Amino acid sequence: MIPESREPAPASRCPVPLLPPAARERLVAETIDRYQRYVNPGLARLFKFGGSETVEWAALDCLVWDAHGREYVDCACGPAIFNVGHRHPRVLAAVRDQLDRMPMSVRTMPSAALAELAERLAAFTPGDLCYTFVCNSGAEAVEGALKLARLVTGRVGFVAMQEAFHGKTLGALSATGREYYRAPFAPLVPGFTHVPFGDAGAVDDAIGPDTAAVILEPIQGEAGVIVPPPGYLREVRGICDRRGVLLIADEIQSGLGRTGRRFGVDHEDVVPDILTVAKALGGGVIPIGAFIARPALWGPFGRQPYIHSSTFGGNPLACRAAIATLEVLEGERLPERAAAMGERFLGRLHDLRRRYPAVIRDVRGRGLLLGVEFVHSDYALMVAAEAGHRGVITFYTLNKPEVIRIAPPLTITPDLIDRAAAGIDRAVAEADRVLASVRAAAAERA
Ligand SMILES: Cc1ncc(COP(=O)(O)O)c(C=O)c1O
Repeated sequence: MIPESREPAPASRCPVPLLPPAARERLVAETIDRYQRYVNPGLARLFKFGGSETVEWAALDCLVWDAHGREYVDCACGPAIFNVGHRHPRVLAAVRDQLDRMPMSVRTMPSAALAELAERLAAFTPGDLCYTFVCNSGAEAVEGALKLARLVTGRVGFVAMQEAFHGKTLGALSATGREYYRAPFAPLVPGFTHVPFGDAGAVDDAIGPDTAAVILEPIQGEAGVIVPPPGYLREVRGICDRRGVLLIADEIQSGLGRTGRRFGVDHEDVVPDILTVAKALGGGVIPIGAFIARPALWGPFGRQPYIHSSTFGGNPLACRAAIATLEVLEGERLPERAAAMGERFLGRLHDLRRRYPAVIRDVRGRGLLLGVEFVHSDYALMVAAEAGHRGVITFYTLNKPEVIRIAPPLTITPDLIDRAAAGIDRAVAEADRVLASVRAAAAERA
């Protein structure tokens, strides 16, 4: 991604020193070459397609700088991991303090950090969600939730949603709803039935005697940012209660203030039986995931505390980052801020859609989890690349590549929203111009 001005910015506001120009060029060339030879040649190709003749260098709050000192507004967030902004001072301080004392657990003694995080999560999550298992990533949190549901119910089946994204480990992938990622690894874990998201009747129909749980994202992220119809979550909760199956809410992307409430389920005052969280929980500083369950479900874990475990899960460094993150989310009222800033950003996107009706099919979302759906994935890819050239980072959604996601830090300001929206606007204009001329040339040849 190269912003329009290709000059190294002498007045770069990058908060850390840049390398001298020759060293920068060398770093960029070496990094691309190492991707090509040691990471993944396909990824190297993708970066080149996106115009990435640079590497990431520094970040602060809503801004990112590349090695040349060029500045970007981060509207992708990793995706969705920098809810409190990049390098929030409170999170950094908590991590530094723990780093200087004891970053990892010996595990033969209780960890004060883990215990405090579990208590805070019980208070921060809805209803009587209470017991927490801390792990290291989103997929791991989903794996744990699925295992707990099987253990508690003695049943093996799950109802999941089409186009859902729950991660790419085998169990999480079995819940994920896009064949593109599933088919190469078949057979997956048996017992998963996928139904259309937003259709409560389909959930009811799919539940059978072997169903342990229904798993859903309250607002789907990678499916292209899909907000379900009003009342859907409550209806599914009712169905689960009536049919005696558990409800797992995967809040890994929609949680922690992203959609304008603490959690996606809060929009309908629904309390799931198990809730998964990850991504933004570590404040964008340390990876961490967790699943939290109602007390009545924790019996089997209580009887066999090592039936499910993880060497690094619950390490003090990550727990301190998470505690600080929860404090920032509450202290700075970031869910409320996401709701207000989201309305402003969505307004800009609606305006864009009105001006490009032949290119943009839909704009939607809630809080600061927004999506722009293009008429073809080529537009989404090109707009993301062109927005990068104009200093705005966006990313398409994994299960719906026609959609780019707009998910900036919840700390974003009105000025930065206007700047990002202007960059996206110019990117859409450029993609429209280029793809129209490609189509015209193809038509001429035909
Ligand atoms: C809703 C949801 N669940 C699970 C995951 C998987 O998380 P991770 O990539 O940390 O394994 C993601 C990642 O995008 C997600 O959006």
